[in-house]
Amino acid sequence: MHNVTLPMAFNDYIIREITIDDSTSAYKMRKNIASCCDTILATSDEISLEGMKLWIDSWLRNDKRLFVVVEDNKNIVGQLWVWFSDSKAKLAHVAEIGLEVLSTYQRKGIGSKLFEIGVEWARQVGAIRIQVQTLERNEPMRRIIEKNGFEYEGTKHCYVNNNGNFENMVCYARLFCKNDD
Ligand SMILES: CC(C)(COP(=O)(O)OP(=O)(O)OC[C@H]1O[C@@H](n2cnc3c(N)ncnc32)[C@H](O)[C@@H]1OP(=O)(O)O)[C@@H](O)C(=O)NCCC(=O)NCCS
Repeated sequence: MHNVTLPMAFNDYIIREITIDDSTSAYKMRKNIASCCDTILATSDEISLEGMKLWIDSWLRNDKRLFVVVEDNKNIVGQLWVWFSDSKAKLAHVAEIGLEVLSTYQRKGIGSKLFEIGVEWARQVGAIRIQVQTLERNEPMRRIIEKNGFEYEGTKHCYVNNNGNFENMVCYARLFCKNDD
């Protein structure tokens, strides 16, 4: 296991933890993705600047949550979220990962890099199980998940209502024993 050290350079970009000053840029990026991409769960209406600020603020104060951004020329072009369930002690070993990359920056390896960072960070802070779910048709996300050794666990049928089209969600997980490398 390698420790995650942020900030880090990745090709022409900087990968670093978010700050509250990134709220507007992070909000704009999410709005952009929601307007052109229907593989995320949020609708454009559900994404607000105030909501983004509250989200960033609460995650920065929780050491079992990671919010990372990819920066290109002061613009945020990618986001990664890793979170542990903090409401139930019996689920405290379970981490979950989500990510988004602006469409003009996709297919450059950013999503793969973010996912690797998410897995390493989750392991560093004690995850025994890391889980992730995505739309069944989300080929790039499934590719990233599978190439990182996650196992398919099942399908949630008709789980996402995409404008009246009820889509399947696929679930994956990877398990780590405490003494794993
Ligand atoms: C899923 C997502 C994060 C991938 O980000 P990315 O930066 O394009 O990913 P990468 O460039 O690292 O590519 C990952 C793999 O998918 C493949 N890939 C990328 N785009 C693809 C496409 N449109 N169709 C098929 N495969 C694709 C790449 O070739 C790569 O495979 P490889 O490692 O075998 O070469 C990005 O597409 C995205 O943000 N989508 C919208 C939001 C979303 O769906 N998020 C996930 C919600 S669960």
